[in-house]
Amino acid sequence: MSTSRTPGVRHIRLKIVRKPAFACFLLWIGCWIIANTSIYIHRSIFAGYCTEEKSKRIFARLCHDYKQGVLTGDVCDDLCVTQTMVYKQCLYYDKGKKVIQADWNSQPVILKSKLENFSSYDRLYLLDERETRSIQDIDILLFTALEVKRALGLEVKNTTVPQLWAKQLKDKRDSYSRAELASMWSLLQQEEYVLFRLLQDLSKHVPRVMGSCGHFYVVEYLTAGHAWHHSLFSVETLVNPSWRDSSRKVLWRTINEIALSFLELIRHFENDFSHHLHLCDIKPENFAIRSDLTVVAIDVDMAFFEPKMRNILEQNCTADEDCNFFDCFSRCNTKTNKCTAERSNSNLQVICDKIFRPLFISKLSELRMYHPLQSQLRNAVLRCSELSIHGVTDKKTMEVTFLELYDLLKAWQR
Ligand SMILES: Nc1ncnc2c1ncn2[C@@H]1O[C@H](COP(=O)(O)OP(=O)(O)OP(=O)(O)O)[C@@H](O)[C@H]1O
Ligand SMILES: [Mg+2]
Repeated sequence: MSTSRTPGVRHIRLKIVRKPAFACFLLWIGCWIIANTSIYIHRSIFAGYCTEEKSKRIFARLCHDYKQGVLTGDVCDDLCVTQTMVYKQCLYYDKGKKVIQADWNSQPVILKSKLENFSSYDRLYLLDERETRSIQDIDILLFTALEVKRALGLEVKNTTVPQLWAKQLKDKRDSYSRAELASMWSLLQQEEYVLFRLLQDLSKHVPRVMGSCGHFYVVEYLTAGHAWHHSLFSVETLVNPSWRDSSRKVLWRTINEIALSFLELIRHFENDFSHHLHLCDIKPENFAIRSDLTVVAIDVDMAFFEPKMRNILEQNCTADEDCNFFDCFSRCNTKTNKCTAERSNSNLQVICDKIFRPLFISKLSELRMYHPLQSQLRNAVLRCSELSIHGVTDKKTMEVTFLELYDLLKAWQR
């Protein structure tokens, strides 16, 4: 009797034989998907970052233009001839400003420009119009004042304008060269440069401008904030070397001083200039600290004095949400369908929400750091951050909130 196999048995055997092959196939597909996904994620995360090659190319082009006499500046020689200023690393996203760290006589500095190429800035039309004749100082003054008005919305006095020029107009005997005028014009088109320059002698909360070359301006290197950092700023690299044991007490004290300096900055930007200065892009990355723990606003592209702020906010609207400009909000008047020109939240509220809340509530708990005044401080920070949610913006409440935070931080310091 022949033992013929039934189709059912053969099917089972085939399944058993094919199983390892099928598993291998699945494994292979799985690996392929994982490999491709990680390449994709890696590419999309790092695609927007600057590269050393690209940044060095930017400097090479800058120096080429300098040697051709197209542009100039007080640091061009150091960067392009003596090489006492050398590239260190780039710190920008492709879509943002070009921010490059360099070593200048072995000290770190930052070079910044809104656009990559000098030729991408508008040319000063006087240079084309008066190709052969020299340009009068009075014209330069007028053009500069107009550019400051455009950039910052401020009417500047004639006495302020020369501050923006590397060499004081009144001390200058020869007329400006074409390269000098073209370089200055490219800098004046950068709102951040104009604001930094105007506030140089008025504020310790903006970085020192140390010079320029073409469209790049050099500012002091500071310890920048990072949202991912356990205390937002890498204070370990800053504090007195004798504190390096990084005891919790020292970290507490440092964080406390940074918070007080933030409050000082808020007061200063509110009261010490002819107009209130509004910060509309508040995040740890846009602030830095000096070694004495002074907080410095390092990215002021979204900082506006009151007149320009009012212009920005006054838009058409149908609801309050249409009146939000980054961190600066106003309200919609549904009768006129226009946003109110007056800002409805404040620098203090946003700093409470985006800096103090993560610092005093999440980060310190993660570090398991406790302090007797911590719960009071935590409540004060929460109340302050939630003021804008409840639409509370009156001056008196803001003042009380400010003082509550200030007094708690001072008491803690003692
Ligand atoms: N003076 C400085 N010292 C140290 N680091 C700096 C300084 N200025 C800028 N940086 C670093 O470079 C980064 C980018 O600078 P900045 O914020 O001015 O450029 P940005 O293009 O406007 O950035 P974004 O649009 O992402 O806010 C900062 O987050 C900071 O890490
Ligand atoms: Mg920034």
